[in-house]
Amino acid sequence: MPNDTLTIKDNRTGKSYELKIENGCIRTADLKQIKVGPEDFGLMGYDPAFLNTANCKSTITFIDGDRGILEYRGYPIDQLAEKSTHLETSYLLMNGVLPSKSQLDDFTREITHHTYVHENVKSFMDGFRYDAHPMSMLASTVAALSSFYPEAKNVKSKEVRRAQMIRLIAKMPTLAAFSYRHAQGLPYIYPNNELPYTENFLTMVKSIGTARWKAHPALVKALDVLFILHADHEQNCSTTSVRTVGSSEVDPYSAVAGGIAALFGPLHGGANEAVLRMLREIGEKKNVPDFIKRVKAGDGTKLMGFGHRVYKNYDPRAKVIKKACDEVFSVTGRNPLLDIAIELERIALQDEYFVQRKLYPNVDFYSGLIYEAMGFPVDFFTNLFAIPRTVGWLTQWEEMITDTEQKIARPRQVFLGKRELDYVPIERRS
Ligand code: CMC
Repeated sequence: MPNDTLTIKDNRTGKSYELKIENGCIRTADLKQIKVGPEDFGLMGYDPAFLNTANCKSTITFIDGDRGILEYRGYPIDQLAEKSTHLETSYLLMNGVLPSKSQLDDFTREITHHTYVHENVKSFMDGFRYDAHPMSMLASTVAALSSFYPEAKNVKSKEVRRAQMIRLIAKMPTLAAFSYRHAQGLPYIYPNNELPYTENFLTMVKSIGTARWKAHPALVKALDVLFILHADHEQNCSTTSVRTVGSSEVDPYSAVAGGIAALFGPLHGGANEAVLRMLREIGEKKNVPDFIKRVKAGDGTKLMGFGHRVYKNYDPRAKVIKKACDEVFSVTGRNPLLDIAIELERIALQDEYFVQRKLYPNVDFYSGLIYEAMGFPVDFFTNLFAIPRTVGWLTQWEEMITDTEQKIARPRQVFLGKRELDYVPIERRS
């Protein structure tokens, strides 16, 4: 008998089945043969929120949640954060290997030459109310890009796919910066293609009053590190959304717009915004114990920026961000909310409630403090997550499109509702 199998005995029928185990998984579709009779649909797996279901095979990002390990294409995240740049990391994610000097130069040139958006995009932006959330603006304008590039729907062509991937990675900072400028009532700043990716973005966001405005190099570096940390995170909620929307073979702009919408939520990328609001609400270090009490009382208050579906250990990205805080604060001055965050972390890491549930700080716990120190408004934080995640979404999308085992995403349900009722005319309804 081969070893890599699972024997299941169905106690309803007394029959035994042998299922193949491959890469630590059984195929849930193999359960379908387990039936109580010919009319039976067959056994299914029931797994709301995909707690223990792999949806794809992937070679992009590896996470060991118990040991707090994150690798892009095999490279540990702390090494990339220390030594790479966001564009080089983007090349790595998209192509599976680190680029040579000339490959990186070509890639950088390509990205740099697609940073401009059609002038019409400015009119969409102008259509939003002055207080529109920047994530709503970003999701809508990315979706709108598909109307400018109708060839993008040819998702089976590698050449077409790659052209859209380059375009979207290049245009995302421009769209995010425009959403910021609109919300602030400031004129839009066009990309300056002589500047590197992250500096160009900061300049489009912040530059005012002088053509020679220059972003502080330490802040550019810190933001680039944050971009690297956010570039991909395997099958999270937004990436799963991109893969699911993209599985209908819609164009990548529409698929990524779905990912942005998913990222917006406070349990996902919106957590960085929620952390800042929480820290402001706590207000002072002395209020931390009371806040922790409220969280533990289970009245629905969460310690935002803590906990993760996969990490049951310190999020390796949070470690790098905590270090980056010092470098940023040496330029901007210390964010006073840092003391509250450190105290929350200190108490939580020794409190039975958090220890038992393995709740550790995640990427969003400290990133907001950096963004705030850099002068970004709280509702812009999630845009700062969406820009670098674009390469991850697109790389995962392309992997899905080229995976011959993938099909349109279409889960099953367990139907527990009523059936075969007779229609009752309205006058006879009680
Ligand atoms: N504060 C207090 N309790 C928590 C928290 C938290 N932040 N997170 C989880 N728990 C509790 C939860 O109530 C549950 O307790 P019990 O077993 O008594 O019912 C237990 O821990 C397990 O939590 P879960 O909700 O089953 O875990 P999940 O894997 O479904 O959720 C999560 C993961 C990230 C949505 C959740 O931890 C959370 O809501 N955290 C706060 C929001 C946040 O920081 N999100 C950013 C995630 S990292 C970046 C990203 O993905 O965008």
